[in-house]
Amino acid sequence: MAYNILIVEDERHARQYISAFLQDQGYEITEAATYMEAMHALRRGQGDIVLLDIQLPDAYGLTLLDETADWPNRPPVVVITGYGDIDTAVEAMRGGAYDFLQKPVKFQRLLNSLKRLEEIVAMRRELALWRQQQTLDFVGGEGETMRRVLEEARRAAEASVSVLITGETGTGKEVLARFIHKSGPRADKPFVPINCAAVPDTMLESELFGYEAGAFTGATKRKQGLVEVADGGVLFLDEISSMPVDMQAKLLRMLEEREVRRMGGVKWLPVDIQVIAASNRDLKAMIAEGKFREDLYYRLKVLDLHLPPLRERREDIPVLVGFFVRQLAPRMGKQVHDVPPRALEALTAYDWPGNIRELRNAIERALLFCDGDTLELKHLPPEIVR
Ligand SMILES: Nc1ncnc2c1ncn2[C@@H]1O[C@H](COP(=O)(O)OP(=O)(O)OP(=O)(O)O)[C@@H](O)[C@H]1O
Ligand SMILES: [Mg+2]
Repeated sequence: MAYNILIVEDERHARQYISAFLQDQGYEITEAATYMEAMHALRRGQGDIVLLDIQLPDAYGLTLLDETADWPNRPPVVVITGYGDIDTAVEAMRGGAYDFLQKPVKFQRLLNSLKRLEEIVAMRRELALWRQQQTLDFVGGEGETMRRVLEEARRAAEASVSVLITGETGTGKEVLARFIHKSGPRADKPFVPINCAAVPDTMLESELFGYEAGAFTGATKRKQGLVEVADGGVLFLDEISSMPVDMQAKLLRMLEEREVRRMGGVKWLPVDIQVIAASNRDLKAMIAEGKFREDLYYRLKVLDLHLPPLRERREDIPVLVGFFVRQLAPRMGKQVHDVPPRALEALTAYDWPGNIRELRNAIERALLFCDGDTLELKHLPPEIVR
């Protein structure tokens, strides 16, 4: 597969010169003459590797490194500096550039650099694919409940509507959210998770909506919010119950108007995202206590999916056990392929307060102790065998 090189260079001749050469070498080319064009191309997912000139008419080229610093999959950047401009080169490398070339660009040097970066890009792709397969593994089981949940999840994915996933800890809320993302039209756009409980209240707004330089003390440079990063894709709001009420109001506005404004900014930017929220707390009760906005609740749960605790769907346990053994054993270098009825009975009888996460951990631990091809009762954690 050909690699796409995004050439960011305002001088037309210089740009076309490099572009023509790289096309001859079999690369696909995207050209950008301004900073704006470059950011636009990147947001659309163009450019596996970026060639970045420093002097652009509308911005200092290295701003691009800062602005994309926290993108999960920012393409590697090669900076093109003026001859002898070592300070800029150093600054670029500090900002996360992979390499720098001096003007006039020497083609052999450019090719060497690109070849090296192709390996990085290829490795990342492989990793992404591997991760995707990991999380695509949403196992329903035999039971009717999960069959229905999965069917509704597929429908929500297709229609791209807001989804609220509820369920105890470890029931698979995040796995389900990723499954919805991968099953819908937004599959090749980003899935951006944010755990509202892990981000301090005071930082939630800047995380979600971003900020302009000077918006508050410490905001030295403009930063994109996760809502913008998720544009076209899915924003996963984990533990939504932890979101402070004033922030809930801003989120609601964003969902209704489908636009976002960075803190300290004046412009409203349109956004197109599907929101999936998850909670292991009873939002209805929180509404009654005035801790969760009812209007937001209804806005989020266009579709609401409840993942029942494992103890209420024991019929799914054998399938999950089989799945985890098959998934984990090879990775751990084990040859296990049999789980005899007695072990399965114990696994099915246990209450699983930590739900599927606990089940997975129990299987992992059991495999660790198991050297033959059969997972025996004695390999299971003591609390299960009791
Ligand atoms: N349906 C499933 N199929 C396969 N694996 C699953 C499934 N559900 C959960 N798991 C496993 O359990 C782990 C925990 O799932 P997940 O993180 O989605 O739970 P959660 O509901 O978000 O929990 P918490 O409320 O604690 O955040 C996953 O990493 C995965 O290994
Ligand atoms: Mg979770």
